Amino acid sequence: MRFSKRILNIKPSSTLAAAAKARELKAKGIKVIDFTTGEPDFPTPEKIKEACKKALDENWTKYAPVPGIPELRQAIAQKLKKDHGLDYSPDEIIVGCGAKQSIYIVLQVLIDNEDEVIIPAPYWVSYLDQVLLAGGKPVIIQTDDKAGFKMTPQQLEKAIIPKTKMLILNSPSNPTGACYTKEELKEFGDICTKKKIWVLSDEIYSKLTYDGFKQASFVEAAPAMRNQTILINGASKAYSMTGWRMGFAAGPKELIDKMKILQSQEITSIATFVQRASVTAFNDCDGEIEKMRKEFEKRRNLMFELVTKIPGVTCFKPQGAFYLFPNITAFKKPSQQIADTLLEEAHVAVVAGEGFGAPGYLRLSYACDTESIKEGIQRIKEALKKSL
Ligand SMILES: Cc1ncc(COP(=O)(O)O)c(C=O)c1O
Repeated sequence: MRFSKRILNIKPSSTLAAAAKARELKAKGIKVIDFTTGEPDFPTPEKIKEACKKALDENWTKYAPVPGIPELRQAIAQKLKKDHGLDYSPDEIIVGCGAKQSIYIVLQVLIDNEDEVIIPAPYWVSYLDQVLLAGGKPVIIQTDDKAGFKMTPQQLEKAIIPKTKMLILNSPSNPTGACYTKEELKEFGDICTKKKIWVLSDEIYSKLTYDGFKQASFVEAAPAMRNQTILINGASKAYSMTGWRMGFAAGPKELIDKMKILQSQEITSIATFVQRASVTAFNDCDGEIEKMRKEFEKRRNLMFELVTKIPGVTCFKPQGAFYLFPNITAFKKPSQQIADTLLEEAHVAVVAGEGFGAPGYLRLSYACDTESIKEGIQRIKEALKKSL
């Protein structure tokens, strides 16, 4: 079979591949502790499910407008105002099939052949491949745990050349959980304003922050970037709605209008009843998401405490998302090999750092119950003891 160059140029999502391997073992009846998951283990809040059932009963089952139903875009606009003081009108918002699809259409609309897109590493697995799919050239800025997994303004400035079209920021970060402060974002904003480059600010974990840290939205920190920023967020992570596939992008109307054209030829819109339920999520569920956030904070504390007691392992303490990204370079083996050993011998599934552009690390998700955290880290400790 002859396939397009586009598809041959990209690889499957490494996080989904690791989760699939864990599932295979579980299907054989093996008790696998799964730290690969990029989704909360909590059920979607009842209120949201009830709103969905009601929407179905009321026959919200027809095509929706391409950018989303007006009441949902209105709810998103109000949320951005309430949480970040941002002013977006509903026609500056487009609802997509998860944040992932919204990011995909932004890149398709803005990136041309050979345009450079700066991606700080460790990065979320899909940015790189989605930039390649758009014909762009990913330019990676390496960061490590010593730097708190943060890019410096100097690194950014040095990486920008005339072909640079965009910077992708993700704070809180998947896979590291690192968060940029408002002041740090402002510094990036000053550089991007001066150099006239776009920022895609993926804020999907913005509600999941700890130690009292409040994540600023990029435009909140750098208002001058209002017309060069596309904000990405959605319901998946904070509202425990990963399977509903609801995300959105907010940005200047001219860009949103082009995204609508692409979306009209691609998915039309996301499910209408999901949109109705999402109105309830954004308008009426602050209490529910705060409960989940608190639980994640407890789990982060527990997992961090246990991981940092494993001989040979060091770990950056994250302030957001639901991942730890421990450094395992002391074991002097590729992290993929260590991840494979942990799965095969200790039956603990983790994701190797390579897929995030960060060999030498493992990603452990703490979106699972505390018993699994205790047992899983104990198993990892015993398995790694043999490798030292
Ligand atoms: C940083 C980041 N952005 C976007 C997404 C995609 O989210 P969604 O499920 O809304 O497509 C994820 C999911 O893992 C993520 O970690």
